Amino acid sequence: MKKDLISMLDIKDDIHELLDLAVKLKKEKKQGMIGEPLKNKSLGMIFEKPSTRTRISFEVGMTQLGGHALYLSPRDLQMGRGETIADTAKVLSRFVDAIMYRAFSNKVMRELAENATVPVINGLDDKEHPCQILADLLTIKEHKGDFKGLKLAYVGDGNNVCNSLMLGSAMVGMDFAVGCPSGYEPDAELTKEAERFAAENGAVIEILHDAKEAVKGADVIYTDVWVSMGEEKEKEEKERLFLPYQVNQSLVEAAKHDCIVMHCLPAHRGYEITDEVVDGPHSVVFDEAENRLHAQKAVMLTLMHD
Ligand code: CP
Ligand code: NVA
Repeated sequence: MKKDLISMLDIKDDIHELLDLAVKLKKEKKQGMIGEPLKNKSLGMIFEKPSTRTRISFEVGMTQLGGHALYLSPRDLQMGRGETIADTAKVLSRFVDAIMYRAFSNKVMRELAENATVPVINGLDDKEHPCQILADLLTIKEHKGDFKGLKLAYVGDGNNVCNSLMLGSAMVGMDFAVGCPSGYEPDAELTKEAERFAAENGAVIEILHDAKEAVKGADVIYTDVWVSMGEEKEKEEKERLFLPYQVNQSLVEAAKHDCIVMHCLPAHRGYEITDEVVDGPHSVVFDEAENRLHAQKAVMLTLMHD
């Protein structure tokens, strides 16, 4: 049966295996070892929203594995003229070996996956961003070693990235604290799931409304944009409300002295994170961006290899 990666919940039993494979693939790439495990395979990539990292890392990743990736914009597909998502899924499944989809809606993402007969990979929707979080966990593993005993503090909007990061942290047994304005907490249902995983793995989930309190004792500070793609009309209100949640030098000093600072990028410098922090000694944001490639190669190899 085909396996999808729509939510972090889809990889709850495979997360360590995927991370180990990503470490191996990264090492092999750095050593110049080249194989073609996905020779003659194609990945169809539908992007309803812009992308730098996701598009490039999937496309380059497929090339490095010996396969081919197609960039598909709804503007050019018949989808843009009303062909249903179900028909699009069925047709694409006759041509390609997996579909990567960046969607506005998790509901439509699931409809595509239900109608596709090939694996579907979530390249971000309004609820989750699992590929990002695999790369983030790989980055934390590289910089900090074991996850157990670590605390990650996510400061900002309880959005798609926050939801997946909360699940991922709980699954690997890392304490997770959110510091967000009231009304911008992560998804309630996913919080319950994360609490269940955290309890199983000896970790805790805290939802707080004070940034300094959230980062207390943190090994990792993480933030993301305050205004996600598709939420542009909330910009003015959010920028005012989220100001106390900016990751700046004073907030970094409130965490552990050897903490790392992460951001999935793109960063809105001067808003959720300052130049001083994003370019400073604690920042690992570009390692994190590179790791999209290695983590997704592990995903594609696992889902697409015969
Ligand atoms: N972090 C991330 O998904 O970046 P892009 O929007 O550039 O793909
Ligand atoms: N939360 C952001 C992540 C961008 C990679 C968004 O959805 O726009």
